[in-house]
Amino acid sequence: MTRSAMMFAVAALMTASPALAADGAKTFQLQCKTCHAAKSTAMGPSLTGVAGRKVASLPDFKYSAALTAKGGTWTDASLDTYLAAPLKFAPGGKMMISVTNPADRAAVAAYLKTLK
Ligand code: HEC
Repeated sequence: MTRSAMMFAVAALMTASPALAADGAKTFQLQCKTCHAAKSTAMGPSLTGVAGRKVASLPDFKYSAALTAKGGTWTDASLDTYLAAPLKFAPGGKMMISVTNPADRAAVAAYLKTLK
């Protein structure tokens, strides 16, 4: 890629991201909110600040042994792999839903970054 094409790609990524996050917000309302609230509940851990957080690290949620044993940090890559197939990422884990469409996963991951 030439330098100018690269600058363009970076600029496109940066401007696309609020729109992507807005799409992700819709997906989140429909597919995640029942279990993930601002504060952890019995249904699921809080996702506030999840991007960059250590996997299964909130003291106020009882994670599965499977996810706890995973270790590592939530990055774009690990979130994408997890959301595609949570039970493949952590066999024996407690999250039963997946996001099969890659574009929806990217959007929801962009939205998760706005939860601070
Ligand atoms: C039916 C309930 C349910 C739904 C719906 C759900 N989750 Fe979860 N989620 C969980 C549970 C339970 C865990 C903890 C899993 C474990 O301990 O193995 C979890 C864990 C997570 C984690 C890891 C959190 C951490 O602290 O390490 C992320 C990220 C996540 N969910 C994202 C999502 C997203 C994004 C959606 C919507 C596309 C979603 N979840 C929908 C129940 C749910």
